[in-house]
Amino acid sequence: MHTIKKLIFALIAFTVLGLAPAAPALADSDADIAHRKTVMKAVGGTMKGLAMIVKKQAPAKNADALSHAMFQLSKVVPDLFPEGSDFGETGAKEEIWSKPAEFKAAVVAYQRAARHLSTVVHSGDMGAFAKAFGAMGKTCGGCHKPFRVKKK
Ligand code: HEC
Repeated sequence: MHTIKKLIFALIAFTVLGLAPAAPALADSDADIAHRKTVMKAVGGTMKGLAMIVKKQAPAKNADALSHAMFQLSKVVPDLFPEGSDFGETGAKEEIWSKPAEFKAAVVAYQRAARHLSTVVHSGDMGAFAKAFGAMGKTCGGCHKPFRVKKK
């Protein structure tokens, strides 16, 4: 009797586990796009927060933390464009996948500029802050222009 119970339990477990891979995986195109947009919004929000500091509308003491946040976010950006995430409600252009070298260059330019900004601010060189911020801001357009559908 005991053995039969065990066997039934094992059978149920096997069935449940066997079904698991058939359940819809999270990493479908819609989830990829939603994740991309959400992280990009964080990039945009961090950008606005920094811009307010540059314009002296917010305390400069948080420039270091926000610049570091931007640098960290820049590390996530290359993973926001998995193969197949060009289908759906997205402003990501097809060229992201058809021109990988150009796209990678745009990613790297942004990452370098974000790292530079973070280094500059962390060293306390607030004189160079606005310039480094402006240079980083240009790299957003450097990717959006060729690789993002223009908003109507
Ligand atoms: C390497 C390319 C690349 C870089 C660099 C980049 N973006 Fe984007 N960004 C995109 C693409 C592509 C989209 C469209 C995403 C979609 O609709 O799926 C986007 C979308 C956005 C959005 C809209 C998100 C939403 O609500 O749907 C914001 C805001 C944004 N980016 C801000 C920025 C800022 C600010 C920077 C620079 C600090 C930046 N991005 C750098 C490629 C880039």
